[in-house]
Amino acid sequence: MTRTALTTDDLTAGAPVHVPAASGEWWRDAVIYQVYPRSFADGDGDGIGDLPGVTAKLDHLAQLGVDAVWLSPFYRSPQKDAGYDVADYRDIDPLFGTLADFDEMLAGAHERGLKIIVDLVPNHSSDQHVWFQEALAAARGSAARDRYLFRDGRGPAGDEPPNNWQSIFGGPAWTRLAPRHDDGPAGPQWYLHLFDSSQPDLNWENPEVHAEFEDVLRFWLDKGVDGFRVDVAHGMVKAAGLPDWDGHVAMVEGTVEEAPSDPGAPEDGSTGAGNRGPMFDQEGVHEIYRSWHRVLEENPGERCLVAEAWVEPLSRLARYVRPDEMHQAFNFSFLTAPWDAAQLRTVVDVSLNTMDAVGAPTTWVLSNHDVVRHASRFGLAEIGGKQLNGIAATDPQPDAELGLRRARAATLLMLGLPGSAYMYQGEELGLPDHTALPAEVRQDPSFFRTDGAEPGRDGCRVPLPWVGGAPGNGFGPSDKTWLPQPGVYADLAADRQYGVAGSTYEMYRTALELRRAEKIGTAGLAWVDALAGSPDVVAFHVAGVVVLSNLGATPVVLPAETDVLLASGDLVDGAVPADTTVWLRA
Ligand code: GLC
Repeated sequence: MTRTALTTDDLTAGAPVHVPAASGEWWRDAVIYQVYPRSFADGDGDGIGDLPGVTAKLDHLAQLGVDAVWLSPFYRSPQKDAGYDVADYRDIDPLFGTLADFDEMLAGAHERGLKIIVDLVPNHSSDQHVWFQEALAAARGSAARDRYLFRDGRGPAGDEPPNNWQSIFGGPAWTRLAPRHDDGPAGPQWYLHLFDSSQPDLNWENPEVHAEFEDVLRFWLDKGVDGFRVDVAHGMVKAAGLPDWDGHVAMVEGTVEEAPSDPGAPEDGSTGAGNRGPMFDQEGVHEIYRSWHRVLEENPGERCLVAEAWVEPLSRLARYVRPDEMHQAFNFSFLTAPWDAAQLRTVVDVSLNTMDAVGAPTTWVLSNHDVVRHASRFGLAEIGGKQLNGIAATDPQPDAELGLRRARAATLLMLGLPGSAYMYQGEELGLPDHTALPAEVRQDPSFFRTDGAEPGRDGCRVPLPWVGGAPGNGFGPSDKTWLPQPGVYADLAADRQYGVAGSTYEMYRTALELRRAEKIGTAGLAWVDALAGSPDVVAFHVAGVVVLSNLGATPVVLPAETDVLLASGDLVDGAVPADTTVWLRA
């Protein structure tokens, strides 16, 4: 078999492509672990995870070595979109516990040196929110209706939606109210919902909406949270007049190029593709983040705002993290990049350059609660579009072994990059998605709104296995799990991996320990010059470490006497085999 043999000279660093920021706020290099509360750990045995469950597992997180935890929503909610439909922004849903449980969880996290980031959902509320209920009871043109986007329909009887926008979960983005006596000739009004019909969009032209959310921020800041992840941060402001748009609304596009999908799109983002339709990435959102930045600054400590903004290209994303706006933005260009050396180098380069230009840290992420876990994604022959959202039993199934191998390699590549990294619960166990969930158990609204054409995101939301072979694999004190776990979860359970050399858990733990010890997060980055054009190898210097990923079939022989600090898979005769990442002493 051919082998590529490297000498020490071959590993020489080129010119730095990233120089770290001078300031050292904690979020600049934090590794942030996403807890999806309903699937993390169940404290009371109802089969749904909760805040006492999170508190009970804080030691797992502290021992893993992450810096912070971001919790997906736990607020009062009818759970039509798993809590991203908030009915009361200042209370905990009984499903997850009480405000006292939250305080206990927060105190327990802080005692262990873990920061807590909570999720803020400002684009829409639940239809059960008191404001929406008031709007339904009030007349057209009322102050109550003006907190949302109510409009009269088109057509002589107003029975066509006010514009042609589609919901991201499928179907029209408008729902019409039931008829009532004072409707008049236009008939009942319609309301806008970019997501499910149970998630009406708020009207961010209304000062009352601004005041309310500033107050919500202060409520959680006073409790002591360290930051907010802002849901659909690119969607709150809509173009004036809500013009028709023929583009395709989507959350996950899977585009990796830096070039905008629509090069002719105006710079103000008023039209065009790349998620730049009239409902996304409008100039007005930035003024909101400037005001929230000021609210955070009223508080001691280093609190942060993290944008969930599906916008392209990265230069548009960088506008959300200018010095007086948010602090971080999820890097979905990295998440959607295929397992390809040249494309990975490009996305790393462009990410570092564009974020450096505004003085923000780059973030890195491979999995979250909206996409197929990377251990499954990388086992698919082709990644992109629909497959990012969910895999159905009738779809081509991932190659589990290949997926895990590549996922581990991708993880070591990611954790070797400077900046802040996000992990999704269970990836430290190498969990795959459940890729064969039967239709009867699916709960994602996108499954229902597309009549099953989109499998939805349930596959990545399956309850975690803590104790292999126990009832529900130790998810909680009963055998209940709100979604069934696939058979492989028993062997991948946390207790089967703690202290086991070579396990995915131990690989993550060691990587996080080294990352901290070597100060990788705050380091500069320089590519290994001799390999900068390689079709198969990604290699760079960071702090005192060389990170080298081999994505090709040809083994890469390391120079003699190389000190290998960590590897995502076994080396073969001193060579890095396919789909393997190593960390070497530089
Ligand atoms: C965000 C969330 C997703 C949710 C949607 C609507 O993209 O991550 O889970 O369905 O917003 O709130």
